[in-house]
Amino acid sequence: MQTDDPIEAAEFIKHGGIVAFPTETVYGLGASVFNEQAIMKVFQAKRRPADNPLIAHISSMSQLGDLANDISDDAKKLIDAFFPGPLTLVLLRSEQVPAIATAGLDTVGVRMPANSLAREFIAAGGVPLVAPSANISGRPSPTTWQAVLEDMDGRIDCILRGEPTEIGIESTVVDCTGARPVLLRLGSVSLEQLRAVVPGTVLASDPSLARRSPGLRHKHYSPAAKVVIVTEPGDIADRVDASAYIGLHPAERTFALVRVCSDVEEYARSVFEFFRECDRRKIDTIYCESVPRTGIGAALMDRIRRAAERH
Ligand code: TXA
Ligand code: MG
Repeated sequence: MQTDDPIEAAEFIKHGGIVAFPTETVYGLGASVFNEQAIMKVFQAKRRPADNPLIAHISSMSQLGDLANDISDDAKKLIDAFFPGPLTLVLLRSEQVPAIATAGLDTVGVRMPANSLAREFIAAGGVPLVAPSANISGRPSPTTWQAVLEDMDGRIDCILRGEPTEIGIESTVVDCTGARPVLLRLGSVSLEQLRAVVPGTVLASDPSLARRSPGLRHKHYSPAAKVVIVTEPGDIADRVDASAYIGLHPAERTFALVRVCSDVEEYARSVFEFFRECDRRKIDTIYCESVPRTGIGAALMDRIRRAAERH
């Protein structure tokens, strides 16, 4: 079923159901963090590999103590600076969180969404919610409730319908269980912003990253179409009648579908929905203009690069 009412949607959570809901990043698929059966349903509905841990979402700081132990001073600083918002912190998992939620890890990702409908919904359910992005695994994350329906119709109990998401790519993930914070997944909270709060924050770039953030081992964000990154006009083929283009500047060709964004924020907000629209129209190649890897541009290029790697 579908509803605009967070209280009605939360009833499904209270009875062991799974519910898609909006956040400021992408739509999530929520289940009670304390209900193993419901968490199993989330993995099944998404066809998600069981070795990929979920993020727990909270509506108030009072819920943090049920999820995590021994929160470091650096983590506290990041919480003060960025909660609520598009930042997930990996912390030491409390025994109350079932192992299935975090793929057996002794850590747990925690985030407090800034989206007010998300927080009303979580508060109404009365428990933190594990919530991966509400797409079939490997597909672009959903930024509208209609995109959730496209992937999840008949597979979940309820969709809480909200606005299209403001940011459009998933949260920044930072591991706070070591000596210094380690950025595991780029998002709209940039490395520069993190370092302004905790100067020692580092970008995980060595091979041990795959172990620390299991999700990065899996295929992500991919449309059926081939994705090509455009850094110069010569990267575009001569025949583009079954191709699409997205970027900040128009390209001198006649594509089947074109999206010119006015800034990098709009590009990030639009890219996943653009990928989905291309699949609906059976586009075979999507050209994505490269942007400088600063601010949210770094996260945007990370997602586009992963989508392009698939082929
Ligand atoms: O913006 C977001 O984060 C969205 C919305 C719904 O909140 N959620 C989301 O969840 O993107 P998901 O499951 O699609 O991606 C979670 C990422 C994965 O790469 C996963 O491996 C990583 O976070 N992650 C979660 N828990 C972790 C942990 N304990 N240690 C390391 N990485 C973790
Ligand atoms: Mg995801």
